[in-house]
Amino acid sequence: MPNTKIAGIGYYVPEKVVTNDDLTKIMDTTDEWIQERTGIRERRYGKKHKETTTTMGARAAEIAIQRAGIAKEEVDFIIFATLSPDYYFPGCGVLVQRELGITGSEAGALDIRNQCSGFVYGLSIADQFIKSGMYRNILLIGSEMHSMGLDFSTRGRNVTVIFGDGAGAVLLQPTDEPGKGILTTHLHSNGTYAEKLAFINPGAHGGYHAAHQEEQVDYHYSDAEYGEMFVNEYMVENGYIFPNMEGQFVFKMAVQKFPEVIMEALAKTGLQTSDINMFIPHQANLRISQFVQRKLGLSDDQVWNNIQRFGNTTAASVPIALCEAYEAGAVKEGDLVCLAAFGSGFTWGSALIRW
Ligand code: UT7
Repeated sequence: MPNTKIAGIGYYVPEKVVTNDDLTKIMDTTDEWIQERTGIRERRYGKKHKETTTTMGARAAEIAIQRAGIAKEEVDFIIFATLSPDYYFPGCGVLVQRELGITGSEAGALDIRNQCSGFVYGLSIADQFIKSGMYRNILLIGSEMHSMGLDFSTRGRNVTVIFGDGAGAVLLQPTDEPGKGILTTHLHSNGTYAEKLAFINPGAHGGYHAAHQEEQVDYHYSDAEYGEMFVNEYMVENGYIFPNMEGQFVFKMAVQKFPEVIMEALAKTGLQTSDINMFIPHQANLRISQFVQRKLGLSDDQVWNNIQRFGNTTAASVPIALCEAYEAGAVKEGDLVCLAAFGSGFTWGSALIRW
């Protein structure tokens, strides 16, 4: 059975830089607060009406495909991870197929909704398809256009200042080189706390899960038997159409689950933290990554952080950081790379790759 290797990798971030000071002009926040709590100095925002989650994903994908040395038409399966899709449905997988101009191949396209851990989940899915021999050239994309769906009033500041736009992609292929490629992947979830970090409306819940929410929200649905709306005026007026997060709760879970799932991967492969050449954490918050680094006893040159420049790009953050590290020469042939992510769901996961 072959292993799965990353044959090509690429990322794309939009040109527009939005600094913390830029945000202070539209909401009550400060550069000091944002840097102290998150490490973020600036993030990128896509060009409204010109760029989307799909188009950014396509730009990253083109680089990954080109670096893999294959023609676009040879992609035989697409996996697209995002929480900010262009449409409610259909998903970005088919849209990126069209954007890349490869609809003729009629390759399968799968969208996955696993938020911050979407890329790690996608990697594991692709790995199984490749190991089984079902596909040979899988395009995996993580992309987010957060800036289209955030609350830019002070009400949303705890969430809005964190997120940025961008995309990362890999082209995955089988390899027969012994000991190379994806060595192991580990996926977990716990839906108990689904609403602690969520973007609830528009949705077909009809208020059903209200009891699980910290704030007992009455979404003001009518009693109509048929044709209920996904979003109503009350939700719009009260800001229930934006992502919400109970930050401290999420933080505490993250710093517990990151080390757990990394140690699980190391135990499975008989490796140690000292064997890791490069740890690429999901860029949730610099304080979380620093906590995990200390907990695992990793040195600064074993960890890649870029949240300072790009903010949290959710499903795109791991492939963007991995690509940056690769381009900087910080990930080299034979290196052991550890990926890990935690986020909404809660869902989390890890992967070990021998580059
Ligand atoms: O990627 C997916 C996973 N996500 C995460 O892992 C995020 C985990 N959580 C976090 O990173 C942190 O909890 C945050 C950065 C989101 C927030 O930091 P915090 O230290 O937990 O702040 P807090 O939410 O407890 O708020 C502390 C104070 C509050 O004011 P009061 O009630 O103490 O007066 C907030 O209203 O900070 C206030 N605040 C802000 N002030 C200035 C919240 N957001 C802001 C802001 N600017 N942007």
